[in-house]
Amino acid sequence: MKLIFITIVCLGFSLSTSYGQPLTEQSDKKIKVSVFYETICPACRVHFLRMVVSTRKLLGDYLDMELIPYGNARMYPQVHRIYCQHGELECYGNQCQTCVQDMYGFEKLYNYAICMFQSKHFTNPSVSAKECAQTLGMDFQKIDACAKGDRGYELALKMREKTDSANIEYVPWISVEGKTVDFHTDLTEYICENYLADKNVPGCLIGLLKLSSRISFCQKSTTTTKKMKLIFITAIFCLWCLSTTSNGQPLTNEQSNKKVKVSVYYETLCGGCRREFLKVIVPTRKALWNYLDLELIPFGNARIHQKRHFIECQHGLEECYGNQCQACAQDIYGFEKFYNYTRCMFESENYDDPTISAEECAPKVGIDFQKIDTCAKGEHGYQLALKLGKKTNAVHRKYVPWIMIEGKKYDPRNRDLKGYICKNYLANENIPACKTK
Ligand SMILES: *[C@@H]1O[C@H](CO)[C@@H](O)[C@H](O)[C@H]1NC(C)=O
Repeated sequence: MKLIFITIVCLGFSLSTSYGQPLTEQSDKKIKVSVFYETICPACRVHFLRMVVSTRKLLGDYLDMELIPYGNARMYPQVHRIYCQHGELECYGNQCQTCVQDMYGFEKLYNYAICMFQSKHFTNPSVSAKECAQTLGMDFQKIDACAKGDRGYELALKMREKTDSANIEYVPWISVEGKTVDFHTDLTEYICENYLADKNVPGCLIGLLKLSSRISFCQKSTTTTKKMKLIFITAIFCLWCLSTTSNGQPLTNEQSNKKVKVSVYYETLCGGCRREFLKVIVPTRKALWNYLDLELIPFGNARIHQKRHFIECQHGLEECYGNQCQACAQDIYGFEKFYNYTRCMFESENYDDPTISAEECAPKVGIDFQKIDTCAKGEHGYQLALKLGKKTNAVHRKYVPWIMIEGKKYDPRNRDLKGYICKNYLANENIPACKTK
């Protein structure tokens, strides 16, 4: 029964494309939808590919859509320059898209924007802009010349005017007939309810079934395998728990000794963090190797602006990038490599510029920089940072570096982390390293 329902719903979904294009109502006034975004912003990418594309698919010709690739950029006309939130490459990406609109019209721009967001090089428009121009049969030479030249700049000015007059607060920002639609609102539903309610639009009927639930229904098989996997992992984990708890206490000194949990909250560009890490954490870890359960949390005094899908770091975007490279290293390669990576970045003479040290250190510790860079600049890095942010905010820290031992704050004025741990947590363990100064 359930299966039949799912099949029907899935069928509905695959048919939805054709519903989007009404044949008879071409003459109706179209609903203006403006999408403000920038090319390297991960949230723009997700929102565009999920929300904008599906809405246009369902409501097709009822919409008069416009794309404004400018976002949080700033313009300095005196020096004839534009600064983009994610750097020069983003400006280039924005301008390539503006140029495509100018040279080839909206339809091409729309497909171009989708292609660039879908590209695995989406964080590097110098690659994706070319790749996608070729895919869509456009003359990349022309687009490139426009984007880098005066024409691109002129077009960007227009985009700025539009963006400024819409008073956007963050990107992605969508307005329908000049009214802002909240980031969390389903765009299809919103337009159907507010503008197409009396029109009997097939795309809206489908919209009623709710896009999100439909998509997850259609992917039911993968969810099931995920669930199976989860059950399997849980079972293994429980078995492992049982086997360890039944053995109870440690048998050999080296392998199952008591470990003291030490958590270090820090951020990549803070000088005090660097000093503490190199002068205190590294030697303590060396001395008490097997007795420490060390945890590093690269987030520090950063702030999360969840609505803007943006993280603001104490020492600017470079610090966020450094933090996120490290978070990604932990996630992709595990703690040991992450530790070596962090250490290398702090040791580097370029430690004050993570865009250099992150790249320089990757090969030194056996990490693929491309992977780290993509992760750090993308949605994955953002999600990891969110987690670290929640963890950091949960400890009510006042400054960085901030060290917690077994959940209690350690006062750095003690000046002897190793001695402190030995005395307070490992006194009964008879550890040679604790006997030496
Ligand atoms: C981390 O660096 C040390 C040398 O400082 C090396 O012995 C160790 O193998 C490295 N760990 C990993 C996982 O690469």
